[in-house]
Amino acid sequence: MNYDAITLHGQNSTLILKTGPAPEIVYWGERVNAQLHVNDISPITRAVPHGRLDLDVPLTLSPEHGRGMFSSPGLEGHRNGYDWSPVFAFHSLEQNGNSLKIITEDTIAGLKLVIDLILDPATDVLQIRHTLTNMKPDPYQVDRFAVTLPLPERADELLAFHGRWVREFQPHQINLKHGSYQQENRRGRTSHEHFPAFIQGSTGFNEQQGELWGFHFGWSGNHRLRSDVKTDGRRFMQAEALYFAGEIQLAENESVSTPLIYATYSQHGLNAMSHAFHQFVRQQILHFPVNKPRPVHLNTWEGIYFQHDPAYIMQMATQAARLGVERFIIDDGWFKGRDHDRAALGDWYLDEKKYPDGLEPVVNHVRALGMEFGIWVEPEMINPDSDLFRAHPDWLLAVPGYHQPTGRNQYALDLQNPAVFAYLLERLDDLLSRYDISYLKWDMNREIVQPGHDSKAAITGQTQAVYRLFDEIRTRHPLVEIESCASGGGRIDFEVLKRTHRFWTSDNNDALERQQIQRGMSYFFPPEVMGSHIGSAHCHSTARSHSIAFRGLTALFGHMGVELDPVKENAEEQAGFAHFIALHKQLRPLLHSGKVVRIDHHDPAMMINGVIAADQTEAVFLISQLTMPTYSLSGSLRLPGLQADKNYCLTVLEKPARFDGGVMKTQPQWLTQDETILSGEWLAKIGIALPVMDPESAVLLQFKLV
Ligand code: GLA
Repeated sequence: MNYDAITLHGQNSTLILKTGPAPEIVYWGERVNAQLHVNDISPITRAVPHGRLDLDVPLTLSPEHGRGMFSSPGLEGHRNGYDWSPVFAFHSLEQNGNSLKIITEDTIAGLKLVIDLILDPATDVLQIRHTLTNMKPDPYQVDRFAVTLPLPERADELLAFHGRWVREFQPHQINLKHGSYQQENRRGRTSHEHFPAFIQGSTGFNEQQGELWGFHFGWSGNHRLRSDVKTDGRRFMQAEALYFAGEIQLAENESVSTPLIYATYSQHGLNAMSHAFHQFVRQQILHFPVNKPRPVHLNTWEGIYFQHDPAYIMQMATQAARLGVERFIIDDGWFKGRDHDRAALGDWYLDEKKYPDGLEPVVNHVRALGMEFGIWVEPEMINPDSDLFRAHPDWLLAVPGYHQPTGRNQYALDLQNPAVFAYLLERLDDLLSRYDISYLKWDMNREIVQPGHDSKAAITGQTQAVYRLFDEIRTRHPLVEIESCASGGGRIDFEVLKRTHRFWTSDNNDALERQQIQRGMSYFFPPEVMGSHIGSAHCHSTARSHSIAFRGLTALFGHMGVELDPVKENAEEQAGFAHFIALHKQLRPLLHSGKVVRIDHHDPAMMINGVIAADQTEAVFLISQLTMPTYSLSGSLRLPGLQADKNYCLTVLEKPARFDGGVMKTQPQWLTQDETILSGEWLAKIGIALPVMDPESAVLLQFKLV
């Protein structure tokens, strides 16, 4: 029997899918312009080698052992020991432009598997989700359920991210010739440790060159991602929500869906991949309530911690407004009994000892200064020392009878318990209705251990319940923006971003560390959702000190804020905050809409990144010297992406106070001129000589079409 071959095109990529005998992607790569029909794919009909099964075994979107595929199957489950090895036959296809719904069934096992796939024609981002339905009366137990995507044999290099609290998004690269790479997240939130993504491509891909495929799994709970090289040389990647034993059981006609996997093909390195993901996020994931510039923040946490004195906070707000801050957020410490991190989570009532006149005077003061008001919450958590716990010790996400270890002295609440959900919804709704709050910093500071609901494993349901709580709050308060913060960096993914508007990238405000963390995050997320704050000169998480210039320039390329007590800072620091806030405001229309470019540089001690306007009329680039230059000269900087036949005026917006006097005796000539005119072609091919820079310093360049 001949099955259909369906061709989907993006701007830069083409995907060819064969619907039967089971749905298989037979090509996904560089755009092919020819019109294809099923017969045209006969040149890629595979051989059958000796020494194995007598037939060709397709590598489908859900590999099946029963079809003769010996690798990790797409589905593992059973019905009390039966129906454990399903084989799904193509049933029907619905196509609507670039969007496909492929229905397959196994009538023996009584299961239906539906594949929803869409290749976004505008951005080249592919989204896939599988849904399994139980068609028989007896319950079906699902142990694993994954989406599988093929990769070509040449994609032998893999870039993934490791991390930890205060050091997120650290890249590591491995060469994969045999066997597999696997990452498992069992921490109950997206996690600092296992960002759900990886990139795979042909050897040597880098920022500006090479063929690669990027994957991000949009899920804020447990996951398993893997990449395999089969013994026949074929490759595939697999992504799934990681279920604990017994978590997913389907009654008759009940379904379970995988989260969405987002993937894109790039022919031109990591920059082109990021461009696709950023455009996709801007067009399809992000929903800002009002289309306005991202307001500059002041967040009180590192400024005052738990010391809330309304009169002093108002002084901080006054000073913040003078500096140009547009949104003032009071962090942890405002609610009843919250004097330290050992008590009160769950008691979401204003602390009347700290705020005897209520919160209104503070909110009104902030609003009168022309700023928005924001507040911190951590709804999913509870301290054992809280009125809520004393009243409802049974509200925990736990298995009764076992000891739950605390994390930051707290436990998680079971959001699948309707009473818990209703309580949190009522408290948050009350908070947002009572005060003029336009921003919530939504934290989640503990990893989840032994998550039990009615004694059964429940992390998938908990993750979905958290999404429901976000959704319900957003329905009731559609104008409120939300920040996803889980100890900074612990819940960063596309699915939570559908419900939120900014990430707190890391609890680490050390500019040197931030350079690397922000670069890692920039592969998948555009600058406008990346919270980046100027911290005080003496960094709280590393005890290192940096100049205001290095801190300001590092915070510039995200959604900017300051994280300190502006009242206590000296005049020089204050002037610095005001200066970099003003600079950010001037540049943010470009930074928050343009194309992010990371430059490959031969010396890892230097990091160069920039943003080019969509219409190529302007660009800004930051040259950061992280550690001591490896060589006594830093070479040249070639900047691609501007219009070759147009001239640009290069101006130096910022350079270090001590520039020539450290490792450099004399600056390159262009750095001493007010402006230099260069063509886009010159910049791309010949470039400009780089200065030799002291460690922990940066230069900011601007290019404007003449
Ligand atoms: C987490 C956040 C911080 C701050 C504290 C408050 O660590 O990441 O930014 O809000 O909680 O307790």
